[in-house]
Amino acid sequence: MSLQGILNTDLGKGTIHRHIYGHFSEHLGRCIYEGIWVGEDSPIPNTKGIRNDVVKALKQIQIPVLRWPGGCFADEYHWKDGIGPKEERKRMVNTHWGGVVENNHFGTHEFMELCKQLGCEPYINGNVGSGTVQEMSEWVEYLTFDGVSPMAELRAANGQEAPWRVTYFGVGNENWGCGGNMRPEYYADLYRRYQTYVRNYGDNKIHRIACGPNVDDYHWMEVVMREAGRFMDSITLHYYTLPNDSWADKGEATGFDEKAWHTTLKKTLRMDELITRHSAIMDQYDPEGRVGLIVDEWGTWYNVEPGTNPGFLYQQNSIRDALVAGLNFNIFHKHNRRVRMANIAQTVNVLQAVILTEGEKMILTPTYHVFDMYKVHQDAELLELAMDAGSYKLDDSEIPAVTGTASRDAEGCIHISLCNLQHHAEADVAINLRGLAAAQWQVEGITLAGDRVDAHNTFDQPNNVAPKTFEACSLEGGKLHATLPAMSVTTLKLAPK
Ligand code: AHR
Repeated sequence: MSLQGILNTDLGKGTIHRHIYGHFSEHLGRCIYEGIWVGEDSPIPNTKGIRNDVVKALKQIQIPVLRWPGGCFADEYHWKDGIGPKEERKRMVNTHWGGVVENNHFGTHEFMELCKQLGCEPYINGNVGSGTVQEMSEWVEYLTFDGVSPMAELRAANGQEAPWRVTYFGVGNENWGCGGNMRPEYYADLYRRYQTYVRNYGDNKIHRIACGPNVDDYHWMEVVMREAGRFMDSITLHYYTLPNDSWADKGEATGFDEKAWHTTLKKTLRMDELITRHSAIMDQYDPEGRVGLIVDEWGTWYNVEPGTNPGFLYQQNSIRDALVAGLNFNIFHKHNRRVRMANIAQTVNVLQAVILTEGEKMILTPTYHVFDMYKVHQDAELLELAMDAGSYKLDDSEIPAVTGTASRDAEGCIHISLCNLQHHAEADVAINLRGLAAAQWQVEGITLAGDRVDAHNTFDQPNNVAPKTFEACSLEGGKLHATLPAMSVTTLKLAPK
């Protein structure tokens, strides 16, 4: 297949917000416990109880923001259970996820320490479903108040004299479901009330985030924007990619066929329609585009790995997940006017994780590598890339063969990322570089490809799917030429010679 495109190198379309490369870590399965927190006494190398290998890997992909403690867990979480001497912290059952004992050893101080080690911004999700206004208000005071106050004193007594900086605060999670089964009218009023007490102390300015819709619940978006839009900085959207239409049998993470490959990518592409339609509603109530849309849960959701706790949501991650990540990033870039943050669910050992751990072992998933290859787009200027996407058909279903995105970084280099969705064929791409004297530029690339639809990494073979230098690219006659392998994500860098 041969595809043509035009890259308008002089047509900037605004910044690609680095926060769309954000992550989400919940008290769920082995994400926080084992995946991130092992405790100070663990034989696994750690700093203040946090795994060194995981921190190092996440720093490499320049994780910009981390959402915590949930998820559904957020609306059952009472933050005061997670402060003070660890041995005195309440033990409880994580009723939502797997019915296991939560010892609260990872709490506010540990989360803020994690963000410090990662060099990322914290995004804390407060409890509306089962928490009080006072509880939320006091959490913000505990975190950020500088001066004489009961919560600032409690924080100091627990070893943290200076206030932390907290930029992002979520007022509830999925309040249409696990966060209280509310109607949008009711939530909108609660949001207005709770957010009043999410105060800005000193020069700490909190970005207030309202709970937005699930998938295509346009009614929720309409009501919450209408009734509470002026009280928020952003509103969320959750959309997961399930290969099947059934929550009882979502489809397998590995061992699937070409049809499941095609369907999964097709369902991922729905993100574009969802963002477009939710943005149109937001435009009615916020024509200036002040309020951001935060896709703070996205990714694949499969049947759990055989033999694992169904409440732990542990799944493998293959080259198909890499394509899902690339497609979502390309969509988020395109919608940079509204989409200011996105958080993959979830960082380690849960759903579309970028890292899997087993005891002291750690592997990087194909999704991790896409985050690494796309980090060049963080805070870069989006460029207009018009491409013939081609057609990839399977049975009676059709999706684009190739999707792409391009940006210019602060040094003036241009990066183009291209996803070849086809499981069976290469794609020859020729991109006209309008506005660029190609003879004075050079190209290099990196690619991640699979040799079968479910190619993945294991603890025995951690580098089955790993990025490789990409040779099949050139600059000739003012055009960029690239031959993309089947099932691949490729990032090309154009730099002056
Ligand atoms: O990410 C797993 C769960 O999915 C989250 O806890 C919840 O918000 C969503 O339904």
